[in-house]
Amino acid sequence: MQDKTVLITGANDGIGKATAERLARKGAHLVLACRSETKAQRTADWLVETTGNEHIDTLPLDLADLHSVRAASELFLAEHPRLDVLINNAGVYCGSLELTSQGYELQFGVNHLGHFLLTLNLMPAMQCSKLCSRVINVSSAMHTKGGIDFGNLRGERGEKAYDGTRAYAQSKLANVLFTKELDRRHGSELTTNCLHPGVVGTSLANKKGKLFTKAVWSMYKPFAKTPSRGADTSVYLASSPEVREVSGRYFNPNQCLVKPSPTARNEQLARRLWEYSAAAVHEFLL
Ligand SMILES: NC(=O)c1ccc[n+]([C@@H]2O[C@H](COP(=O)([O-])OP(=O)(O)OC[C@H]3O[C@@H](n4cnc5c(N)ncnc54)[C@H](OP(=O)(O)O)[C@@H]3O)[C@@H](O)[C@H]2O)c1
Repeated sequence: MQDKTVLITGANDGIGKATAERLARKGAHLVLACRSETKAQRTADWLVETTGNEHIDTLPLDLADLHSVRAASELFLAEHPRLDVLINNAGVYCGSLELTSQGYELQFGVNHLGHFLLTLNLMPAMQCSKLCSRVINVSSAMHTKGGIDFGNLRGERGEKAYDGTRAYAQSKLANVLFTKELDRRHGSELTTNCLHPGVVGTSLANKKGKLFTKAVWSMYKPFAKTPSRGADTSVYLASSPEVREVSGRYFNPNQCLVKPSPTARNEQLARRLWEYSAAAVHEFLL
């Protein structure tokens, strides 16, 4: 990965941090895109110290605010001529209804919409030549439980009707649909794939989950995969020559190509979600 520039969202914790460590050891030039500049800098310092790789930059990015996504894109493009790998990894699980700065349901907004805008804005740095760059979307097997409820993407049905797990599944389904549609529209310019990392012992459900979820997750966590193992498929998709020409696909935690759910393979739904997302981020496009 020498001479490759890799941007990882949510690189200060969990799977993103482990992915950053593994790619730093391979010599990549990393850009850690995180919402907390303090946490990002702490992670960058730790990476330099533990891996010896000094090519570690940070980029302020709050995916829950499209102004921040646009500003981060501008900053990246001003400082880096090329982006070889974009890993859309950041994610949030939320037990109660919360909205982004632009009024979208938080999990849809952060896990899908913010990454959608970031990817579109960074396209000029990725469309260098055919098969030049890779986009990797960290989805989840939970996508199989999801549908896209277009009438509730701004939390229109209210807190009482809110089901955090269903909203999480919806956002992870959006990751797969986005992968498919990005490949359909731009497959001749770059490759794009998505993955399920496995059940990984991170703090994902502890941050904004309900008390019961936090308690169950805390008990289960020691038996789950380590974040480093959870990074296996992201690292594989970012660096392996085996997948240089593979695009529009979904991978399992063992780096095997598998079929996502029938809903995730619905081309009409993928187009509809793209059109909805494009309209939602329109005023923030570069
Ligand atoms: N853990 C699992 O079992 C599992 C299973 C399937 C899929 N996944 C997926 O794996 C990815 C990584 O999750 P994880 O388990 O590693 O969780 P994690 O340890 O909580 O890491 C999530 C990362 O996303 C960042 N993030 C959250 N909201 C953000 C925002 N508004 N703007 C920018 N960054 C934001 C977090 O920043 P802060 O540190 O500031 O909160 C953190 O760096 C997610 O996409 C998740 O859906 C995880």
